[in-house]
Amino acid sequence: AADIKIVMLGGGGVGKSALTLQFVKGEFLSTYDPTIEETYRKTMEVDGLKSVIEIMDTAGTEQFTALKEIYMKAGNAFILVFSLTHLGSVNELGELREQILRLKGRKVPLILVGNKSDLKADRQCPQEVGANLSRLWGKIPYYEASARKGTNVDEIFEDAVRQCRAM
Ligand code: GTP
Ligand code: MG
Repeated sequence: AADIKIVMLGGGGVGKSALTLQFVKGEFLSTYDPTIEETYRKTMEVDGLKSVIEIMDTAGTEQFTALKEIYMKAGNAFILVFSLTHLGSVNELGELREQILRLKGRKVPLILVGNKSDLKADRQCPQEVGANLSRLWGKIPYYEASARKGTNVDEIFEDAVRQCRAM
Protein backbone atom coordinates (compact mmCIF):
# COMPACT_ATOMS: atom_id res chain seq x y z
CA ALA A 1 0.00 0.00 0.00
CA ALA A 2 1.06 3.56 -0.61
CA ASP A 3 2.28 5.75 2.26
CA ILE A 4 0.98 8.96 0.75
CA LYS A 5 -1.89 9.57 -1.66
CA ILE A 6 -1.67 12.72 -3.75
CA VAL A 7 -4.66 13.94 -5.76
CA MET A 8 -4.31 16.12 -8.87
CA LEU A 9 -7.19 18.58 -9.25
CA GLY A 10 -8.00 21.45 -11.61
CA GLY A 11 -9.85 22.35 -14.77
CA GLY A 12 -9.68 20.54 -18.11
CA GLY A 13 -6.46 20.87 -20.08
CA VAL A 14 -4.42 22.70 -17.44
CA GLY A 15 -1.78 19.96 -17.43
CA LYS A 16 -2.56 17.64 -14.50
CA SER A 17 -1.72 14.55 -16.54
CA ALA A 18 1.34 16.14 -18.14
CA LEU A 19 2.73 17.10 -14.71
CA THR A 20 2.02 13.60 -13.39
CA LEU A 21 3.65 11.85 -16.35
CA GLN A 22 6.65 14.17 -16.29
CA PHE A 23 7.11 13.32 -12.63
CA VAL A 24 6.46 9.56 -12.87
CA LYS A 25 8.11 8.79 -16.23
CA GLY A 26 10.20 11.85 -17.08
CA GLU A 27 8.32 12.28 -20.36
CA PHE A 28 6.26 15.16 -21.72
CA LEU A 29 2.75 14.32 -22.86
CA SER A 30 2.28 16.58 -25.89
CA THR A 31 -1.11 15.33 -27.08
CA TYR A 32 -4.32 16.16 -25.27
CA ASP A 33 -6.41 13.16 -24.31
CA PRO A 34 -8.86 14.13 -21.53
CA THR A 35 -8.44 11.93 -18.48
CA ILE A 36 -11.17 9.79 -16.99
CA GLU A 37 -9.23 8.64 -13.92
CA GLU A 38 -5.69 7.26 -13.66
CA THR A 39 -3.57 6.15 -10.73
CA TYR A 40 0.22 5.99 -10.68
CA ARG A 41 2.62 4.72 -8.07
CA LYS A 42 6.20 5.74 -7.43
CA THR A 43 8.78 5.29 -4.71
CA MET A 44 10.61 8.51 -3.98
CA GLU A 45 13.28 9.60 -1.59
CA VAL A 46 12.76 12.93 0.14
CA ASP A 47 15.21 14.18 2.79
CA GLY A 48 16.87 10.77 2.91
CA LEU A 49 13.61 8.95 3.62
CA LYS A 50 11.74 6.72 1.16
CA SER A 51 7.99 6.99 0.62
CA VAL A 52 5.69 5.08 -1.70
CA ILE A 53 3.35 7.61 -3.20
CA GLU A 54 0.21 7.09 -5.20
CA ILE A 55 -0.90 9.87 -7.55
CA MET A 56 -4.55 10.05 -8.48
CA ASP A 57 -4.97 11.97 -11.73
CA THR A 58 -8.55 13.17 -12.02
CA ALA A 59 -10.74 14.46 -14.85
CA GLY A 60 -10.90 18.24 -15.09
CA THR A 61 -13.85 18.62 -17.38
CA GLU A 62 -16.62 17.04 -15.36
CA GLN A 63 -17.94 18.45 -12.13
CA PHE A 64 -18.26 16.87 -8.71
CA THR A 65 -18.55 13.21 -9.57
CA ALA A 66 -18.90 10.42 -7.04
CA LEU A 67 -15.48 9.18 -8.10
CA LYS A 68 -13.89 12.52 -7.35
CA GLU A 69 -15.47 12.47 -3.91
CA ILE A 70 -13.93 9.04 -3.27
CA TYR A 71 -10.53 10.36 -4.35
CA MET A 72 -10.89 13.42 -2.18
CA LYS A 73 -11.74 11.31 0.85
CA ALA A 74 -8.77 9.03 0.24
CA GLY A 75 -6.24 11.77 -0.53
CA ASN A 76 -3.57 12.94 1.90
CA ALA A 77 -2.39 15.89 -0.18
CA PHE A 78 -3.96 17.89 -3.00
CA ILE A 79 -2.30 19.61 -5.92
CA LEU A 80 -4.52 22.36 -7.30
CA VAL A 81 -3.46 23.10 -10.87
CA PHE A 82 -4.38 26.00 -13.13
CA SER A 83 -2.83 27.11 -16.41
CA LEU A 84 -0.85 30.35 -16.52
CA THR A 85 -2.15 30.72 -20.09
CA HIS A 86 -5.82 30.67 -19.09
CA LEU A 87 -7.05 33.12 -16.45
CA GLY A 88 -10.40 31.31 -16.24
CA SER A 89 -8.71 28.15 -15.00
CA VAL A 90 -7.92 29.92 -11.70
CA ASN A 91 -11.62 30.31 -10.95
CA GLU A 92 -12.25 26.57 -11.01
CA LEU A 93 -10.01 25.98 -8.00
CA GLY A 94 -12.02 27.75 -5.28
CA GLU A 95 -14.88 25.30 -5.54
CA LEU A 96 -12.52 22.31 -5.51
CA ARG A 97 -10.76 23.62 -2.43
CA GLU A 98 -14.07 24.07 -0.64
CA GLN A 99 -15.10 20.54 -1.54
CA ILE A 100 -11.83 19.21 -0.10
CA LEU A 101 -12.20 21.18 3.14
CA ARG A 102 -15.81 20.09 3.48
CA LEU A 103 -14.98 16.42 2.97
CA LYS A 104 -11.82 16.32 5.07
CA GLY A 105 -13.12 18.60 7.80
CA ARG A 106 -9.59 19.52 8.88
CA LYS A 107 -6.40 21.10 7.62
CA VAL A 108 -4.88 19.16 4.72
CA PRO A 109 -1.74 19.68 2.64
CA LEU A 110 -2.60 21.79 -0.40
CA ILE A 111 -0.28 23.05 -3.11
CA LEU A 112 -1.16 25.61 -5.76
CA VAL A 113 0.44 25.21 -9.19
CA GLY A 114 0.39 27.59 -12.16
CA ASN A 115 1.44 25.33 -15.05
CA LYS A 116 2.69 25.98 -18.62
CA SER A 117 5.26 28.59 -17.55
CA ASP A 118 7.19 27.80 -20.75
CA LEU A 119 4.45 29.42 -22.89
CA LYS A 120 5.66 32.93 -22.07
CA ALA A 121 3.94 34.69 -24.99
CA ASP A 122 0.55 33.19 -24.07
CA ARG A 123 0.71 34.06 -20.39
CA GLN A 124 -2.52 35.50 -18.95
CA CYS A 125 -1.84 35.17 -15.21
CA PRO A 126 0.84 37.34 -13.66
CA GLN A 127 2.76 35.91 -10.70
CA GLU A 128 0.56 37.97 -8.32
CA VAL A 129 -2.54 35.95 -9.23
CA GLY A 130 -1.04 32.79 -7.76
CA ALA A 131 0.73 34.60 -4.93
CA ASN A 132 -2.49 36.36 -3.84
CA LEU A 133 -4.50 33.15 -3.93
CA SER A 134 -1.85 31.37 -1.90
CA ARG A 135 -2.06 34.12 0.74
CA LEU A 136 -5.85 34.09 0.74
CA TRP A 137 -5.80 30.34 1.33
CA GLY A 138 -3.51 30.48 4.34
CA LYS A 139 -0.11 30.76 2.66
CA ILE A 140 -0.22 27.44 0.88
CA PRO A 141 2.86 26.91 -1.30
CA TYR A 142 2.64 28.30 -4.83
CA TYR A 143 4.77 27.02 -7.71
CA GLU A 144 4.97 28.12 -11.30
CA ALA A 145 5.75 24.98 -13.25
CA SER A 146 6.24 23.61 -16.72
CA ALA A 147 5.38 19.99 -17.38
CA ARG A 148 7.01 20.46 -20.77
CA LYS A 149 10.37 21.66 -19.49
CA GLY A 150 10.22 19.80 -16.19
CA THR A 151 10.46 23.05 -14.23
CA ASN A 152 9.44 22.68 -10.57
CA VAL A 153 7.84 19.31 -11.22
CA ASP A 154 9.83 17.23 -8.69
CA GLU A 155 9.63 20.15 -6.25
CA ILE A 156 5.82 20.04 -6.20
CA PHE A 157 5.66 16.36 -5.29
CA GLU A 158 8.50 16.65 -2.77
CA ASP A 159 6.67 19.53 -1.08
CA ALA A 160 3.52 17.38 -0.87
CA VAL A 161 5.47 14.55 0.77
CA ARG A 162 7.12 16.92 3.27
CA GLN A 163 3.77 18.46 4.18
CA CYS A 164 2.20 15.02 4.71
CA ARG A 165 5.07 13.91 6.95
CA ALA A 166 4.71 17.10 9.00
CA MET A 167 0.97 16.59 9.62
P1 GTP B 1 -7.92 16.78 -18.28
O1 GTP B 1 -7.41 15.38 -18.18
O2 GTP B 1 -8.92 16.95 -19.38
O3 GTP B 1 -8.45 17.29 -16.99
O4 GTP B 1 -6.64 17.73 -18.69
P2 GTP B 1 -5.22 17.79 -17.96
O5 GTP B 1 -5.26 18.82 -16.90
O6 GTP B 1 -4.77 16.43 -17.57
O7 GTP B 1 -4.28 18.36 -19.15
P3 GTP B 1 -3.16 17.56 -19.95
O8 GTP B 1 -2.05 17.19 -19.05
O9 GTP B 1 -3.77 16.48 -20.74
O10 GTP B 1 -2.62 18.73 -20.90
C1 GTP B 1 -3.46 19.38 -21.83
C2 GTP B 1 -2.63 19.91 -22.98
O11 GTP B 1 -1.72 20.90 -22.50
C3 GTP B 1 -1.76 18.83 -23.65
O12 GTP B 1 -1.73 19.06 -25.04
C4 GTP B 1 -0.40 19.06 -23.04
O13 GTP B 1 0.65 18.68 -23.90
C5 GTP B 1 -0.39 20.57 -22.80
N1 GTP B 1 0.48 20.92 -21.66
C6 GTP B 1 0.40 20.44 -20.40
N2 GTP B 1 1.35 20.97 -19.63
C7 GTP B 1 2.06 21.80 -20.42
C8 GTP B 1 3.20 22.66 -20.19
O14 GTP B 1 3.77 22.76 -19.10
N3 GTP B 1 3.64 23.38 -21.27
C9 GTP B 1 3.06 23.31 -22.49
N4 GTP B 1 3.58 24.04 -23.47
N5 GTP B 1 1.98 22.53 -22.73
C10 GTP B 1 1.50 21.79 -21.71
MG1 MG C 1 -5.64 14.66 -17.61
